[in-house]
Parts: sequence; structure tokens; C-alpha cells
Amino acid sequence: ARIEVLGVPLDLGQGRRGVDMGPSAIRYAGLQDRVRALGFEVQDLGNVPVPEPEAKEIQDPKLKYLPEIERVSEEIAARVSEVLKRGSMPVILGGDHSLAIGSLAGVALAKARVGVIWFDAHGDMNTQETTPSGNIHGMPLAASLGIGHPGLTRVAGFAPKVRPENVVLVGARSIDEGEARLIRESGLRVFTMHEIDRQGIGAVMEEAIRIASQGVDGVHLSLDLDALDPMTAPGVGTPVRGGITYREGHLAMELLAEAGVLCSVDVVEVNPILDVANRTAEMAVDLLCSALGKKILPDS
Ligand code: ARG
Ligand code: MN
Ligand code: MN
Ligand code: MN
Repeated sequence: ARIEVLGVPLDLGQGRRGVDMGPSAIRYAGLQDRVRALGFEVQDLGNVPVPEPEAKEIQDPKLKYLPEIERVSEEIAARVSEVLKRGSMPVILGGDHSLAIGSLAGVALAKARVGVIWFDAHGDMNTQETTPSGNIHGMPLAASLGIGHPGLTRVAGFAPKVRPENVVLVGARSIDEGEARLIRESGLRVFTMHEIDRQGIGAVMEEAIRIASQGVDGVHLSLDLDALDPMTAPGVGTPVRGGITYREGHLAMELLAEAGVLCSVDVVEVNPILDVANRTAEMAVDLLCSALGKKILPDS
């Protein structure tokens, strides 16, 4: 099988500089060699062009850098759908999580029906009405479900990209007030840290995979590194304590690999300026390898 890597040095969806260097940090952590060692053919497509915040102005404080993010999203969508149509698996490196608006649009362009596993400390279910920050990286899951500003929901010309019955949020522990209402109304399935603590990550992932893969052509994994505990993944812009441990993260990815349903992956929110010696980018590559089938004791 073939993996195609697309970098998105996007930091316009949130307020801290440095996350635009995420794609470099993840590549520097050995992405290409590590994935090749698993037996995949790997092609790096380079980065999508992204404007610098210093060269732009914020127009709407409730939807910061909306026009720029719309344009980048259209570009990502086109690139990602091409990768899938060639029969390869896209791996999109962020950059902040607003890039998932484009990547999921691309997956939805190429596939009739897609499921989503959204690994995150946050809900990313805000709109311009509920956002406490105006940061679009808090909105991509809502946008993909067709909720929010048309500039974000209608990327690639159609909405929604996914049905709520195939969307699962895993690892949540920081949900804004208005966002909580939207989550309840939308009907997506949420496994917060409470459910992970009670049932164990194994049981949670089995159920998450079942929901996301029901009746779909593939499952998209959107992996926000802040889902992990900040002790394991300190290099993120919006850390929240009490997250997924190193081993829980790996087991979750290993179960996804075993299920054999993954069609595409985002790896987002790695911020090397806030990191400790590239530990978070290395964790990102480790988790990706597990999601792609790496085993502690290989079969042969
Ligand atoms: N809920 C907060 C907001 O909307 C934080 C979102 C964090 N999102 C992320 N992808 N890290 O501003
Ligand atoms: Mn930049
Ligand atoms: Mn996120
Ligand atoms: Mn997050």
C-alpha cells in the first residue's frame, strides 16, 4: 500500500505561534523512514501554501482568518481527494486542527460515505455563536457536520461531509458551554475521559470503531495530539491535564489498525516551540505507526 504525506503549516486557526512548524517537526521525527519500515511505499507531497498571520488582518473576531482558512481548506480538499482517487492513503500533517475542515472535505469528495474518529481533549464543535475564542480550530468537527458558518461548512461545495451517526469523539475533557449543547443536539457519540477511565480504552475503541465504520467506505482518523496527557505530549497549544496515556494511545491506534478500516489520517496541533526536545512530534509518529499496523512483536 502507498501513503502520501501532505503538510499543512497552518497556524491561523488558533492563537499561538509555532504550530505552523508542526509538519517539519513530524518529518524530522523520522516519519518517512518509520512508515517505510512498516512496508509502505511513502511519497511526501510537500506543503500546501499557507499565508502568514503577520501578512493578514483579522476581520471577524468570532471567525479569525476565515477567508484565509477557507482558501487553504479548498486547496487541502482538492489535494486529499486526488490522493484517495490514486488509491493511496493521505496522511495530513498539521498545523492546527482547522485543517481537518479541508481534509475531511477531500475524503468526502472521494468516498460516498465516511466515518470519523476524532481524538481530542476538546469537542471542536463550536460555531461563531458559541466560540469563546474566535479560533477556528475549535470548530472543524461542527463544520464537517454542516453546523456553523457556510464558509466552513460548504468547503468543496457541499455539506455535510459526515453523518453524526458515524462520528465519534474520543478523549474529551474540555467542552465549552454552547459547544456542549451542539454536541447533544447533533447526536454524535462522545467518549469522554470519564468513559475511558470506567470502561477502559479497549472497550471504548471497540465501540468507537463499530460506530464509525457502520455502513461507510472508510474511516478518517483526526488525531489531535492534545488528546494525550500533556506529560506525554507537552508540545500543544491548548493542553488539558488528565488525558490519554502513552499506552492507552497506542492501544487505541493498534485496535484501529486491527480493524482495517482506516482510509486517511490527520496528525495535528504539534507545536515544536512549546515542545520538549521534539517529544510530541515523536509521539505523533509513534502513534501513526501503531495506527498503520506496527506491532511490538511482528508476525513474521
Ligand atoms: N474549545 C476551545 C475553543 O474553541 C479550544 C479548542 C481547541 N481546539 C483544538 N483543536 N486544539 O477555542
Ligand atoms: Mn507561518
Ligand atoms: Mn482539535
Ligand atoms: Mn484539541
